[in-house]
Amino acid sequence: MNHDIVEKNIGIMLGLVIAVISLGGLAEIVPLYWQDAVVEPVPGLRPLTALELEGRDIYIREGCVGCHSQMIRPLQAETERYGHYSVAGESVYDHPFLFGSKRTGPDLARVGKRYSDEWHRAHLVNPRDVVPESNMPGFPWLADNTLDGADTAAKMEVLRTLGVPYTDADIAGAQAAVAGKTEMASVIAFLQQLGTHLGKGAR
Ligand code: HEC
Repeated sequence: MNHDIVEKNIGIMLGLVIAVISLGGLAEIVPLYWQDAVVEPVPGLRPLTALELEGRDIYIREGCVGCHSQMIRPLQAETERYGHYSVAGESVYDHPFLFGSKRTGPDLARVGKRYSDEWHRAHLVNPRDVVPESNMPGFPWLADNTLDGADTAAKMEVLRTLGVPYTDADIAGAQAAVAGKTEMASVIAFLQQLGTHLGKGAR
């Protein structure tokens, strides 16, 4: 009888549908804010160094995230290709997240240490020199552009307000750690640490 009323009145139906979906959503999302596995860094996770942090910003600037995800899903096809699936505790220092969803190229969540710095340098200048069938664009200017590190300390201070545990010494030394290095060096430093923090036993 009551069901009749709901089915015949689109307003009530809509209100109830919204209430049910909202409650369901909240029940799934809210507990995550307090679950240690989600908000605690995995053991061994460290904030990015000043140089890696600059590399991350260039990775965003150049649109790498538009072709590469950093999120290995817990499916056999993915874990066999890329390694252990991504866990939330690996990303707690990431602002913004670079999970991505477009995979024109492979997932990069665990690309760190998979290739040498030299391989990355050659690949980023002209991907076809090392992967003949590649359709990834080259980024040769990364090797020519030099960083001055003028903003690096300020970026780290902002990240510290978001909970990334940079020390005063990290911030004080940031500019010196970056100044004079090429953008290429910073992107490679960023790539080489990706996915290397999850306990070795787990990989
Ligand atoms: C238009 C899409 C596109 C963009 C933009 C792009 N890539 Fe790629 N990337 C690819 C494709 C396709 C491959 C696979 C072929 C290859 O290895 O070159 C690839 C491969 C890679 C690999 C090797 C991954 C592996 O596991 O073998 C790395 C590392 C990489 N890209 C880094 C980058 C970085 C860093 C940037 C930004 C500076 C970038 N890519 C921008 C498409 C892209």
